[in-house]
Amino acid sequence: MESNVKRGGALSAADLALYNGHAATMSESREGDYGAVHDVVVLVRDGRVEWIGEAAAAPEGAVSSATDTVDLEGGWVTPGLIDCHTHLVFGGTRAAEWEQRLGGASYEEIARAGGGILSTVRATRSAPLEDLVGGARRRLEHMIDFGTTTIEIKSGYGLDLATELRMLEAARMLSDSGITVSTTLLGAHALAPEFVEDRAGYVDLVCNEMIPNVAERGLADAVDAFCEGIGFTSEECERVLRVGGDHGLAGRLHADQLSDLDGAALAARMGARSADHLEYTSESGARAMGEAGCAAVLLPGAFYFLGETRKPPVDAFRAHGAPLVVATDANPGSSPTTQPRIALNQACVLFGLTPAEALAGMTRLAAPVLGFTDRGKIEVGLRADLACWRIENPAELSYWMGGSPAQAVFSAGRRLR
Ligand code: NIG
Ligand code: FE
Repeated sequence: MESNVKRGGALSAADLALYNGHAATMSESREGDYGAVHDVVVLVRDGRVEWIGEAAAAPEGAVSSATDTVDLEGGWVTPGLIDCHTHLVFGGTRAAEWEQRLGGASYEEIARAGGGILSTVRATRSAPLEDLVGGARRRLEHMIDFGTTTIEIKSGYGLDLATELRMLEAARMLSDSGITVSTTLLGAHALAPEFVEDRAGYVDLVCNEMIPNVAERGLADAVDAFCEGIGFTSEECERVLRVGGDHGLAGRLHADQLSDLDGAALAARMGARSADHLEYTSESGARAMGEAGCAAVLLPGAFYFLGETRKPPVDAFRAHGAPLVVATDANPGSSPTTQPRIALNQACVLFGLTPAEALAGMTRLAAPVLGFTDRGKIEVGLRADLACWRIENPAELSYWMGGSPAQAVFSAGRRLR
């Protein structure tokens, strides 16, 4: 029993008490896949979990004296969901391109013909800051409805200094939603149209201008690159990650999504926090990630929406100890969704994760990908980022294809829903 409040001892009122349900704490220090506590009481003070345990052991009067209470009505509370890979800020949509793809054109063909990411670049460049914030806010509010309390948002639809900065500024402004927003510079997402004859010039722009500017203004927490035939070579990505690191930005990498450029091994070698997508990752790439402690961020929404058939080597990640993480990849081209529960469902159905693995991949194991050690589990002393669900079994979070919004959502103890 974890407690810093003595049973029956003097107790001042908690800010919040959750009762009459169960907790999937996702804590490794408790037994079972979900670290479950049945018939739970959770007490929150000053934005942190102050006490968690069985109701029978709870401090007397703790629930009735709390300032705010949630009757879980037999449901479950989980850590707030952590969506560690999104492209939530963008202009326009790609619905017309999707119709083209349904007619037989591939994602790569469309990209090579100047559509795809570049079509979103055109729409994003012409969008004022307020429009970028407004569009992303609508999508974010929907994600909060579904229990997301920490999100990462990437730039990468500007490909020029001014628009990359504007995207990151828009993302930073979204922290007024009440949840935590972590931002990532993805200047090396696609070759800017002005640089088709000068690849090296564009990588120079990313390394010599975007990264230093963004770091100096504190607009990003990490740097990312798209290591792919239609993106950047391993050498180019290595340089971006190195220069980012020199400026204090953590590394991420879009790796091995459409082909094997050994991006997984590059991410591992460069000490990146994660490699993401990974459909074409080799056994040796998975081993390198496991050895380096580099997380495998699975993005089943993109796999599904692009109609891919090659699956990421989940067994190899398990065997080599690379943490399995799940994210929505919310973006207009390859994963138009704002629904974390669909990503959980897809991770299980398409990639073979267990429901507990999928939930760990959006909670405990996703937190370190964004550099957080204060969340992702329900434990005494950690942030009270909590989502309450009207479900009888935590597997229902991934069982329902989408499912219902959360009953209640808290960020650092503050009620958002
Ligand atoms: O994560 N793979 C590259 N980037 C995004 C897709 C961006 C887009 O198509 O707009 C992704 O899937
Ligand atoms: Fe992505």
